[in-house]
Amino acid sequence: MKSKIFVALDVDTEAQALEIVEDLHGLDACFKIGKQLFTSAGPDLVRKIVGMGEDVFLDLKYHDIPNTVAKAGLAAAALGVRIFNVHASGGRKMMEAVRNEMDKLANPPMVLAVTVLTSMGDNDLREVGVDVPARDQVARLAKLAQECGMDGVVASPLEIELIRETCGKDFKILTPGIRPAFAAVNDQKRIATPAEALRKGADFLVIGRPITAAENRREAFLKILEECKKW
Ligand code: C5P
Repeated sequence: MKSKIFVALDVDTEAQALEIVEDLHGLDACFKIGKQLFTSAGPDLVRKIVGMGEDVFLDLKYHDIPNTVAKAGLAAAALGVRIFNVHASGGRKMMEAVRNEMDKLANPPMVLAVTVLTSMGDNDLREVGVDVPARDQVARLAKLAQECGMDGVVASPLEIELIRETCGKDFKILTPGIRPAFAAVNDQKRIATPAEALRKGADFLVIGRPITAAENRREAFLKILEECKKW
């Protein structure tokens, strides 16, 4: 069983990404590959990291017509990733099409939904025609994602309790914005420590710079694992 921690590989090149993966090898870390690295290094790198025995979360936040997203999901599954994600605002038909395709697979990846990007405040939402507070929209989209068979959501630490209340205990919650007690906050604002996020009900944590920019990445990762035990 791998750890609950996904290390964000927010780098530009395959060489940089592999250096981080190799540094953490054997510690049961999992890895998140997002748009930056995927756009520059492509699916071969995903295959390579999966082939090294690592668990990968492909964070490409698919949002398109149902057929396109369902087929993209199948392509992600074929890469062997453990998790990929879609935007819940793509709607019921889109998410159901993904579920439908995943249900045909023997060992499908977990599919998570993004509700409202944490960069969007109430005013930003109003500008794109969403006239309810961000928290209400988060709860609404989390519920819809659950109805459509998504396995869980990506949520900020501040939304964990709201989603637990709305969607119950079996719905998975993956949380970025995590800062261990020993690390710099960087540009993150709505943050929690690993222990706080787990206490509130997060299932998985995404942590980037506190590990990737650390002088000793193995040490930083192990310190975070220790912090996780204290919840
Ligand atoms: O380095 P850091 O720990 O801040 O990285 C967090 C990762 O989680 C980044 O890949 C970032 O894009 C992602 N993320 C986030 N906040 C969100 C959604 C995703 O920090 N609300």
